[in-house]
Order: sequence, then C-alpha cells, then structure tokens
Amino acid sequence: MTSRYLSTPIYYVNDRPHLGHAYASIHADVMARYWRAAGHEVYFLTGADEHGEKIAKAAHAAQEPVQHFVDRNAQAFQDAWHILQVEPDRFVRTTEASHRAVVSAVLQQLWQAGDIYLAEYEGLYSVGQERYVTEKELIDGKLPEDRDPPVIRREANYFFRMEKYRPALRAHLDAHPALIQPARYRNEILQLLEEPIGDLSISRPRSRLSWGIPIPWDDAHVTYVWFDALLSYVSPLGYPDGVSFKQYWPEARHLIGKDILRTHTLFWLSIAFAAGIPPYQRLFVSGHLLGADGRKMSKSLSNGVDPLDAAARYGVDALRYTLVREVSFGADGIISHAVIEQRLQRDLADDLGNLAARTLAMIERYRAGIIPAPGDYQPDDLALIAQAHVLPARVLAWVDEIKLAQAVEAIMNFVRQLNQYVALNAPWSLAKHHDQSDQQARLDTVLYLLVEGIRCAADLLAPVMPAKMAQLRTHLGLPPVPSWALEWGHGVQPGMQVQPLVLFPKP
Ligand code: MSP
Repeated sequence: MTSRYLSTPIYYVNDRPHLGHAYASIHADVMARYWRAAGHEVYFLTGADEHGEKIAKAAHAAQEPVQHFVDRNAQAFQDAWHILQVEPDRFVRTTEASHRAVVSAVLQQLWQAGDIYLAEYEGLYSVGQERYVTEKELIDGKLPEDRDPPVIRREANYFFRMEKYRPALRAHLDAHPALIQPARYRNEILQLLEEPIGDLSISRPRSRLSWGIPIPWDDAHVTYVWFDALLSYVSPLGYPDGVSFKQYWPEARHLIGKDILRTHTLFWLSIAFAAGIPPYQRLFVSGHLLGADGRKMSKSLSNGVDPLDAAARYGVDALRYTLVREVSFGADGIISHAVIEQRLQRDLADDLGNLAARTLAMIERYRAGIIPAPGDYQPDDLALIAQAHVLPARVLAWVDEIKLAQAVEAIMNFVRQLNQYVALNAPWSLAKHHDQSDQQARLDTVLYLLVEGIRCAADLLAPVMPAKMAQLRTHLGLPPVPSWALEWGHGVQPGMQVQPLVLFPKP
C-alpha cells in the first residue's frame, strides 16, 4: 500500500470560515477520499493558524483574551468541517505545545548554523498579509488583497538567510518541473528567483506583539507567524523522528491559494533546505473564488456565499459538488447562489436524480422492485460497460493532478449517456409486450444495465457527495460504504430489492 500526505493551508482563525476556506478543504477531502478508495494510506491535515498580529488584533477588537478567542474560533472551523463532511486525519493548532516545540527546535538549529542574525530593519509591512512588502507589489499604495495600505515599520528583527538558498531553490525548481501546479505559478516563481529575494524577517519584538512563540535564545522577541505556520506541516507528523513523518512526508502534497504562493515557495522551501527537511513533492495552487459581481469574494464587498448557509439551503453534497465541478482548480471562478442552484437543478436533480428515480421506479413497476438478471448484452450495452470499466483509472489519474472538475465531468457524462440509453431503449415499450419473452428478456437486460450503471456512478461520485451516494447505494439494496473499481456485475445482484428514491428533492 502506498502512502499519501495532503494538507490544506492552516486557516487564520480571526474570523469564521468562509467559502474560500471551504473550497480548499473540500478539494483536499475529496482527493483524500479518492485516494483512500483506491487503497492508499492517506494522512489529510488541516488546522488553525493562531499566532501573529492579525489574530491578536482581532481578539483585542472582540475584547477577548487571545487564547480564549482562538479556542473558540478554532472550534468553529472544526465544527464547519464536520458539517461539510470534511474529515481530516488531524486538525493541527499552532498553539499546541508539540508544535511550539518543533518551531523552537528548528529556530535553535538555524541559529546555531549561522542562518539567523539580528538586524535593524525598516520597511513597509502589511498587517493583512502578515509580511513585509515591496513597493513593486503595491497598486494604488496597497496590496490588491488588502483593505488597508501597508505601514512603515522600523525595528530590530531576527533574519533568516533566505537569499543564501536562492540558487538551491532555482536548482530544485529546474530539476522538478512538476513541483508547482498549474505550471504558470511555477513560472511566476522562477521569474522571481532571477533576482535577489532578500533575507526573511522571522521575529517581532515582544514590546509590540507578545502573542507568538518566543525566540528560544532571546525572550524579547517572538517568532514571525509564517515561520511558525509553515512548520505546522511537519510538526503533527512528529518531525523529525516520528513514524508518521517517515511514512508520510516523502509523499507530501500541499494545496494552497495563489495569494500564498510566495510563502510556500520562497519561505517554505528555503526554510526546509536550511533545516534539512526534504522539500514537498507537489504544490497545488488554486485560483480565487469570485462573487456574483466577478470580484474576489471578500467580507468588505459582501459578495460572498457563506458555506454553512449554502449547505443548509442546498445540502452539503450540492455545495461540495458545485465547488469541485464549477471552478477548475488553478483558475478563478464565480460561485453565487444562482450557480449552485443551477448545478443542483441541472446536474444533480435533472441528470443524476432523474436517472436514479426513473430506473428505480421502472424496476418497481415492471419487476416488483426486484433487480432482474441480464441476458446477452448488445454492442451499445457493451460500449457503456466498457466505459464503466475504464472510468475509475481515468478518474484517479485526474485526481492525482487535482483536476477534479474534469474527473467529475467524465462521470456526469457517463450519467448522461445512461439517460440517453433509457430514451433509446424505451423500457416502457418493451414492458408493454407481456407475452413476448425476447422483449421481456431485453427489458431485464436494460434494467440491470441501468441499475448497475447507477451503482458505478454512485461509487465514482461518493468522494464528492458521500452522504447522497451512501443514500443511493442503500436504495439499490447495497451497504452504504462505497466500493471502488468493482468489476461490472459485481455490484448490484439479480434478486436484490430496490426502493424508489428522490435523490435531490425540490426545495
Ligand atoms: N494562515 C495562512 C496560511 C498558512 S499555511 C502554512 C492563510 N490563511 S487564510 O485563512 O488567510 O487563507 C487560507 C486559504 O484560503 C488561502 O489558500 C487562500 O488562498 C484561501 N482563500 C482565501 N480567500 C479565498 C477566495 N476568495 N477564494 C479561494 N480561496 C481563497 O493564508
């Protein structure tokens, strides 16, 4: 059995989870479920980024002790994942003692190696992004993703010799063309690496910010939140000696949004090189979700869809399906109420729901709810069966490249073909000829093909819509737990009892 490690970003818990967070977490959850179905041993990590200025400020504004504030919000994230059926193996919190110990140890190691030094620094600082920024990055005096312009800061900081690792970074990207996907993000970083990237400020004076992990050799400073956060990818695995670290880290894949591309390449790879942590295998970079107005979803624009509200309104599965199907990973895309409603109506109710409803109703009507045994298959039947046979491997190949929209589209295409098959074979006409055994035998074959085809589709879609597909399986007379790449004819069996079902009822 092979191992797979997959992480989402650890989310800032200064607020409730929003749809951008849900997008990343649901993608990771869907991938993890596909990999598990295919027999991989999976470690799926998500968590909470709890230190830094942004969190301290938000707690202050909420007039709450910071620890209390992050406890409450981290719980809100865990609750949200539970509702959205996102099931990580581990939810890491950067305030955990075991994580803090790893951060201290790595700092100490880099300090002793001479990779960290103290210097006076003056620069533009974005509190929104928790990092120093350059003039070049600003548009109209601020970062596009920030509400407020950066502030000028002058203070003593510890610095990590990031620039020293630039040649190693370039060499690594050159040697691993598939490291960052989609490739345009790799090109963006290669471009950046053409010029000096500077050293990285990794501490904040305690006089200004006390909420953080102390610099082990100098209590007057706390660790910069990104240095702390990136190590949360390895601390839960028991880095450096843990069994899980040895098993899973060599298969590490990170899933991030494009706004945190630099931190996951320049910062994380150079820190990893300095500490002797092997670099991750893949960085999957997503675009941004846009509101109905075509602008990046954000609280200040109030153009977002709240994930829990959407789940309550349309169902968790419809939300998961829409997020995965609608916005191809890597690209920007609009998610609005109208978009979800349309996917729910067209893809789920009209295509998938209708296929299941009419097939089960026909088995009920013509065969008293008992699945009939198929006779000889005709060429058209065999073409569909061949598709059912190749789909699992094709789906997995797409999943490995996080092309989930394509994978889902191929499955839904199969569903639509089954609907065409119904129209083409007109079971209702076959059923009319009670006394003609060839027509009755053909009806048996058609009904069996449909119901076993639905079973295949349900298994293929289960990672995306776990609850609905479990429900569908039970109506086919099967246990709710999905199977994977079962051979044709090994799913539903003749003689099994089915029950009618409206899978996606109209609200
Ligand atoms: N705490 C850091 C990550 C540390 S990882 C070691 C952070 N947190 S965040 O909560 O601000 O963002 C987490 C993720 O949500 C990012 O990948 C970001 O791209 C994503 N999204 C935030 N808004 C988004 C959209 N509107 N659309 C899609 N994803 C977006 O950054």
